[in-house]
Amino acid sequence: MSEQTKVLNNALPQHVGIIMDGNGRWAERQGKPRVWGHKKGVDAVRRAVSLCRKLGIPSLTLFAFSSENWRRPEDEVSSLMELFLFVLQKEVKALHKNQVRLNIIGDLSKFSDKLQQNIAKAQELTSGNTGLTLNVAANYGGRWDIINASQQMAKQVAAGSLAPEAITEELFAKHIQMHEQPELDLLIRTGGDIRISNFLLWQAAYAELCFIETLWPDFDDQVFADAIASFVSRERRFGCTGAQIRELAAGTVQG
Ligand code: IPE
Ligand code: IPE
Ligand code: MG
Repeated sequence: MSEQTKVLNNALPQHVGIIMDGNGRWAERQGKPRVWGHKKGVDAVRRAVSLCRKLGIPSLTLFAFSSENWRRPEDEVSSLMELFLFVLQKEVKALHKNQVRLNIIGDLSKFSDKLQQNIAKAQELTSGNTGLTLNVAANYGGRWDIINASQQMAKQVAAGSLAPEAITEELFAKHIQMHEQPELDLLIRTGGDIRISNFLLWQAAYAELCFIETLWPDFDDQVFADAIASFVSRERRFGCTGAQIRELAAGTVQG
């Protein structure tokens, strides 16, 4: 890779998404119940948040519970809901102190009233923080996100305030979750599986993908730093040729 390309690409990702997978297997390997792995996964969340703060990465999106995870055994689902509530109540003060803005994305209507109230309170408390936006995807699905955006625009079309031809990629994007934040740059999945599992389908269009074997509870600064280093070393072309990108980089360097 040329020096110029490195200069263009060596910026840190501005938005990192993580599919935090492997909690269940981590616990099972130690002969423990799956929920033990989910609990230990919370420590890994703390580490990831703290590294993003240290590096100045402005947006982090964590996949905590997918729209498909309701299919799991009832006791695992209810343990996850309890854990979600517990962590929310326990961690919100520390997040606030650490300048983190909490933003939950997904269809929250399926959650208990108590959980919904706690989410609203935590979001309200941290709404003015500018250190890091921590998006937690809960009952989230990439398809839901796209359907949700479509419904919002369809309502405007039905009301006569939006012409169908006015639905452009730019307008559509404005109805997608986290549109006000930087574009998703890096998508990491832990746990060894190579799939998206209905995570950020729209947002991942040009994200760099990083699939790693580490199970989520073992995710630490070194693993995260390696993923970021891999991102930094890649040439992102966005449909252009490598030569065009290098020319652009040379211009950036000179200008
Ligand atoms: C990810 O870990 C956490 C959630 C989906 C809530 P898993 O629970 O999917 O762990 P594995 O993939 O079974 O090991
Ligand atoms: C994706 O993991 C969802 C979360 C990490 C929250 P899953 O473990 O649910 O994904 P699949 O079912 O293996 O695709
Ligand atoms: Mg899994």
